[in-house]
Formats: sequence, structure tokens, C-alpha cells
Amino acid sequence: MMLKPIKNLITCFLFLLIFHSTFAQKNTNKRAEWFTDARFGMFIHWGVYSGAEGYWKGEKLRNNNDYAEWLLYRNRIDRDEYVTLLDRFDWDDINPEEWVILAKESGMKYVTITAKHHDGFALWDSKTGNYDLGDFTSPKRDIIKELADACKKHGLKLGLYYSHWVDWEHGFGWDHTREIYGISAEEYDQYWQEKVIPQIRELLTNYGEISMLWFDMWIHHSNSVVTKDQLLQLKSLIRDLQPNCLVNSRLGLSIEEDSDIDFKTLGDNQLGSKKEDFPWQSPATVAHSWGFHSSDNQWKSTTTLLKSLIGNASLNGNFMLNIGPRANGDVPYEISQRMLEMGNWLKVNGEAIYGAQAFDLDKDQHDWGKITCKQDGDKFKLYLHVYTWPLNKKLNLTGIVAPPENVYLLADKQKSPLSFSHSEAFTQISLTNDEPDNYISVVVAEYDSKPEIVDDLVAKTVDGGYSLLPQNQSTADESLIISRLERHGTVPRHVLIDTEKTFKWKIYIDEPGEKLFDVSYSFQNKKSNSKITVKAAGQTLSHSVLPTGKTVGEPNQNWHIDNYKSNRIGKIQFEGKGFYEIEMHIQPAKNEELNFQWLWVK
Ligand code: GLC
Repeated sequence: MMLKPIKNLITCFLFLLIFHSTFAQKNTNKRAEWFTDARFGMFIHWGVYSGAEGYWKGEKLRNNNDYAEWLLYRNRIDRDEYVTLLDRFDWDDINPEEWVILAKESGMKYVTITAKHHDGFALWDSKTGNYDLGDFTSPKRDIIKELADACKKHGLKLGLYYSHWVDWEHGFGWDHTREIYGISAEEYDQYWQEKVIPQIRELLTNYGEISMLWFDMWIHHSNSVVTKDQLLQLKSLIRDLQPNCLVNSRLGLSIEEDSDIDFKTLGDNQLGSKKEDFPWQSPATVAHSWGFHSSDNQWKSTTTLLKSLIGNASLNGNFMLNIGPRANGDVPYEISQRMLEMGNWLKVNGEAIYGAQAFDLDKDQHDWGKITCKQDGDKFKLYLHVYTWPLNKKLNLTGIVAPPENVYLLADKQKSPLSFSHSEAFTQISLTNDEPDNYISVVVAEYDSKPEIVDDLVAKTVDGGYSLLPQNQSTADESLIISRLERHGTVPRHVLIDTEKTFKWKIYIDEPGEKLFDVSYSFQNKKSNSKITVKAAGQTLSHSVLPTGKTVGEPNQNWHIDNYKSNRIGKIQFEGKGFYEIEMHIQPAKNEELNFQWLWVK
């Protein structure tokens, strides 16, 4: 009885198999290929502000968003007095090569330094104006030159951050107090033509190959004083002088608007949330401030930072992690320590990051970690980054049709095979008792060629269940409005159901037998006539909706929220291994509504 529908479903699934012929990141242009492969770089925020360490005349930086490099603006410092901070610099100790060595040992492939930050002070011996290191050091120092030489020596690419929009030094640069006092278009253009353009020309002429110019306008140009023509003038200067130099989207032009922009920069410390086919990057700090701040203390752990790098790589993104050296050049131990630990991890596991890409499983919800992939010679490799080593030592991989040829730990030079079982679109790998890495261990699944996938399956969780959500149905339902987490996450994501609604999911059952079904929702009336039915494997379960009442979100704060409660609705027998469709129908009675959260099958 059961077998026929299963067979039909399997046939249907085979038709639905998604054959991806092109590899991800098809929009990477030639110029950006190295960047896409590099995945990991160093950001350096260092400048006059580094001498203040977050304090000016005994007062902390005037903003809870303690960005130390914003000191001049936040504490309303006169630009001439501001440079007295250079007195604290220990020029004998400052050696940019040490930063480059740290980047290299940390497994980073490029370095991007703040050549000129918002304070308008240039870290090189600029011939434009008199607010640059050449004017304030004797003998003259040129940090860009020193860094460029060190990058060349150690084989790293060099990127330069240049604050084009904001400049607090030039009489006509953009300073946010101009939101009150204004500035004319002519005045701003004077700043542009006599400072930005010549300085960019200097940077692209005197320091050899510059691999990236990193601009920093975090709003669209149409909301700023900068005109599109000014931005295009700047971009064409760059293309003329160094055609291979990458330009980021914080130039003020989005990559959607101008396909000649090489990569998208996300917000500060914003990590990727979806796979993109164009190059992109997250700028990130180890704690909070970019420039050195002596009160910075929220240090992210090495594991957290590695997860950020891996998570971005698994979505085709890049990760640029910042150091804020002190005025003697020292990098805070909390930063260098973590970076070196990341470097040690990359020495073993770098193959899974450099040149690796997102895999095609769009519904990749494996709860044990993230997947990257690579065509490596004649092998296609999936890298399974296992964030949490499963307690039962079984790693569930859902959605891949072919069995792997070989499975092994990336840390194991012998590539001792790990045993696995495979059926249809489900692979289960038997892991070693102990994870090989203290941070994150990587398992390699090797295939002869890129395996086909079934994209719309809900992955089996580490504890052997299936979490069926409004957002992971086999076909996305655009009409659903899925709420955000509310009230600090005490109110979970849910959908309001006030008319009949059907949900459909696909799962692969590798362990046939009886499965329990639980549904979580909130229902606020005293009594209900609403019904939920679930159909799978030719069987039907019915559930009469029950009131779930309220709960206290946070003790002692008069914070009362709707309760979301798991209700056992019954069991269904799955006779054989195979693909199954789970259909759930919610039928609210007249004038009743409920908030559906999830269906759990195990
Ligand atoms: C912001 C800040 C700046 C920092 C940058 C790093 O734009 O203004 O201080 O350099 O983000 O991403």
C-alpha cells in the first residue's frame, strides 16, 4: 500500500533534481579573482587618533559607539591641536613590516591600511596640502611606502582605505556639522579637486601595485554631498592609473547600480546572510573599535572569528579582520593572539577556505556547521566545517545524490577513510571519537565530479529530527509574512494564520519506522474550534487547537508575552527509506487565529 506513493514521489524527485552546470560566483570579474580566492585579509586602522587611545584631555570619546578614530569629530578637537597627539608616537619602534608578518602568519592574503581616514591626515609624505606624515615627522616617515615594501617582500596584496566623502581637515571637506551649517556644491568640489583627486593620483603612482582602494561612504551618493559625476571621475582616474585595482561599493555606488564596482562591502561587523554570486566582504573588528581604544574589552573568541570567516566563505564572501595598533606600532595581544590562532587553524584547514566557494544547497540548514566546496584537480571536494561535533559521532549530510568516493578529516595527512552510509540523497558519516581540532574540525567528502543535489529537502538535524518551518517549505510561499524575533527573542519567529493554509515540506527518511509529530503554535482564545491536520506516507493526523496562554518574557518587568507551546499530535509510520512529502493544513475556525511556529518530526 505504502510503496506506490513513495515510488511516485521518488520519480517526481528525480525529475526535480537540480543540475547546476555553472559554478557559483559567476559574476566575479577577472580583476577580482584573486580577492575571491583570498577570502581573508587584514584591515589596519592606524593614524593620529591612535595616540589618544580613546581619550582626550581626560575625557572618553563622546559616543557610546566608541570608534577611537572618530575622536577629532566627536570631541570637537581643533585640527591643529589634534596633531599634537603625534608627540606620543614612538617612531623608533614603529615597523609596519611587523603588521604584514602578522597578517601572513595569520593566513591573510592582503592588507588594507587607512591611508587617510576621516580626520583627513595622510599617512604618507603627500605633496597635497600640509596635513600628512611628511610634514610632521623628521626624518620623514612614509607608512604607505614602508607597508608597500613589506607587502611586496612577504607576497601580500596591498589595499588602501581612503576616506573620500568625509574629511575633517580640509576647509571644504565633509564634516557632519555641515548638516547644520551647510556647504555649497562649488566649495565641496574644490575639496574634491584639490585634495581627493591629487591624493588618489599620488597613491596610485608612487607605491607600485595597489590591489584595492577601499572607500568609505556608507550611504548612497544621492543622500550625500558627493555627486555621481565626482564618483565617476574618481573611478575613471583609478581605472586609468591602475586598471587592476579593485574598488569597493562604499565608493558610494552600489554594484547593482554600476557593474564596474568590484565588490560589495557590508556594514561594519555585518556578516553575510545569504549566498551571493558577486564578490563581497565583511569588515570586522576583534572587539569593537577600529582604531586602538584602551577601554575596548569585548574580545570575540577565536572560534567566533573562525566561524565568521567560514560562514562568509560558505556564502561566497570575504572577511577582513582589523588590527588597531598602538602609537608605538604594537598590536594588542588580544588581537594578535587570536589572529595567530586563526593562522594555525588555516595552516591545517586553509584548503577549505582559500579558493573555496559556496555549495549549491540553497536550503543548507545543516545544524552542525557550514559547507564550502572546491573543484580540486580531478576531484570535487565538499568541506564540512563541523562547529559542533555530534554527540553520537554521526554527521548527517542531506541533499547530495551521489555517494562520496572518499571521506576523511582535513587534519589527517594520511587521509584515513571515515566510513559512511549513503542512500539516495542522504549520507551519514561516522566520525572519530574525538574532534581533531580544538576550534572547528573539517571533514572532506570527495567526489569524482560535482555531485547532483536535491535542493528542496529539509536537512536532518544532529539529533535525528526534522525541523519544518514556514521558511523551509519545498516551494517558498511568497504570501507568508514571517515575523522577526521580537522582544529580545522571547517571541519566536512565527506566521499569523487567520484563513486556511497548507504547508508542504520534503524530507528524506533514512531510518524508517514510527515518527512522532509535534506542532508549536500560540493560540490566545479561551476555547478553539480550529484544526490542524498533517498528512504523510498516506496517513493523517488531526489535532484540535488548544489555548496556549501567556508567559513571562522577563521576570519582574511586567513583560508578558504569548506562549508558544509544543503539542504532540501523533505518530506516523514510515515503512521504507525514501523521500516523503509532509503536508500540514491549518484550518482556523471563524473569528479565530493562531500563530504557527514549527512542526517537528522525529
Ligand atoms: C565606518 C567608520 C569608520 C571605520 C569603518 C570601517 O565607516 O566611519 O571609522 O573606518 O567604518 O568599516
